[in-house]
Amino acid sequence: MSYENLLVDSKDRIATLTINRPKQLNALSRAVLEELDRAMSALETDAAVGAVILTGSGDKAFVAGADIKEMAAFSPSEAHAYSLRGQAVLDRIDCMSKPVIAALNGFALGGGLELAMAAHMRVASEAAQLGQPEVNLGLLPGFGGTQRLPRLVGRGLALEILLTGERIGAAEALRIGLVNKVVPAGELVDACHNLASKILSRGPLAVRAVLEAVNRGLEGSLQEGQRLEAALFGLAFATADMREGTTAFLERREAKFAGK
Ligand code: CAA
Repeated sequence: MSYENLLVDSKDRIATLTINRPKQLNALSRAVLEELDRAMSALETDAAVGAVILTGSGDKAFVAGADIKEMAAFSPSEAHAYSLRGQAVLDRIDCMSKPVIAALNGFALGGGLELAMAAHMRVASEAAQLGQPEVNLGLLPGFGGTQRLPRLVGRGLALEILLTGERIGAAEALRIGLVNKVVPAGELVDACHNLASKILSRGPLAVRAVLEAVNRGLEGSLQEGQRLEAALFGLAFATADMREGTTAFLERREAKFAGK
């Protein structure tokens, strides 16, 4: 599949999807959103892909937000539709059955931070700058930022970031739990690959079940989430992977998972 604004390549079952508009700091135009949706949908069903790394082109930005130039001309109804569409595209990422890691190689602002938060994990380069600067534009986030940020860092810290519009550095993002780890810029690609490889070496059906339990479970109450967990736990006992994993443990050898 070919894209105008994205690069997709794959190595060792890990696909890297790069948003490729470096001159606009990889800003999310409507065209980018549509391609992102198409690409993630293709990666979801590609049996040769087990994990996805999302990143931005160039060494300056992951994604500097929605495309302000395009957005500035929107009517209220166009803005409403754009917001709903962006939310739907990011929801697809959030609901992927394969782990999605955002590699934050620079500015992750506005829609860029919202995209990163829709990924399952975030690894930042030391140079990354994160924020929701929409209030500086007389706006609020439109791709789920007011909802995902408080879920990740808590209400008070989220409101401070959303209401001041100030950027935070990678170390602060790590401190508040907004990113999983921070590495030197030159090590970002390897760090994301190592994380993805580690997950890919685990039981594939179990990995899928964990993603479903966490992602779906967080949508409802604790009780509903726990019922889902119990159902998935029971289901795991019907898999060859579970037999292999427990047998390998008892036989003191490495498990060889077949994803069955
Ligand atoms: N949309 C469109 N173009 C953008 C952009 C964006 N979000 N961010 C940067 N660009 C463009 C700039 O216009 C500039 O283009 P030209 O060279 O053609 O003028 C180019 O990228 C480089 O940007 P700067 O010259 O500004 O680079 P800088 O290093 O001085 O500053 C920056 C970098 C701090 C990231 C600054 O570009 C910036 O503040 N960008 C906007 C960030 C922002 O407000 N994001 C939120 C957007 S609204 C949103 O995302 C809503 C939502 O939730 C859906």
